[in-house]
Amino acid sequence: MNIILLGPPGAGKGTQARRLVEELGMIQLSTGDMLREAKSSGTEMGLKVAAVMDAGELVTDEIVIGLIDEKIRSDTGAGFIFDGFPRTLAQADALAELLSRNGATLDAVIEMRVDDAALVKRISGRYTCGTCGEVYHDETRPSAVDGVCDNCGGTDMKRRADDNADALKTRLMEYYKKTSPLIGYYYAKGDLTPVNGLADIEDVAKSIKLALR
Ligand code: AP5
Repeated sequence: MNIILLGPPGAGKGTQARRLVEELGMIQLSTGDMLREAKSSGTEMGLKVAAVMDAGELVTDEIVIGLIDEKIRSDTGAGFIFDGFPRTLAQADALAELLSRNGATLDAVIEMRVDDAALVKRISGRYTCGTCGEVYHDETRPSAVDGVCDNCGGTDMKRRADDNADALKTRLMEYYKKTSPLIGYYYAKGDLTPVNGLADIEDVAKSIKLALR
């Protein structure tokens, strides 16, 4: 089964993707994580995209399609969760082409609906374990022991460079201009299932599982 988690910055895509990985053994393909990894390891591509990401703008289609193409080729059969990809109509067309080239199909697109006020709160309180990537929030999902990851015991908690008010404004504008047209694109194909992303993390997870049945 291959699925897309579609939604604005802070909608909870990464949080829910990690649960699906644990519970269904699927593979999470987060273009944001891949780009951050390239950025922190200082690769040529990482240096090229750093300023674009920090400002909250979208990286070129060519770069992200290349990243996904490489991952899809190493398919292990468990199914992919596309998290943060596609983000433009060109990326959506490229994904259809890449899947069909690999004899695969897209099985569902989960649209996570969250309003802007909640997104601002979520983004401003987010921190992540630098060791295993577990996602936390100051108020809604703090780690049990301050500064220590519940999942792996790591102590390298991080906040993202683009989780600030200015970059978030740009990220939201990019979402509404370039990514939200994908809602109509997938609705027209009959692939779209909206879920209430404003519910708590457990309830959102239940709605997604129901949609995937
Ligand atoms: P990316 O990393 O994809 O960021 P994003 O889409 O902005 O999404 P986020 O990771 O911010 O949010 P999320 O929906 O995963 O929410 P999370 O689960 O963390 O992209 C970063 C940048 O990379 C882009 O701006 C762009 O520059 C570039 N990029 C990436 N992909 C690209 C592409 N395809 N094309 C071009 N450029 C690309 O949750 C957020 C917080 O809320 C957490 O603290 C969490 O604990 C909390 N939370 C989650 N769910 C709930 C809930 N139900 N209730 C309460 N709190 C919750």
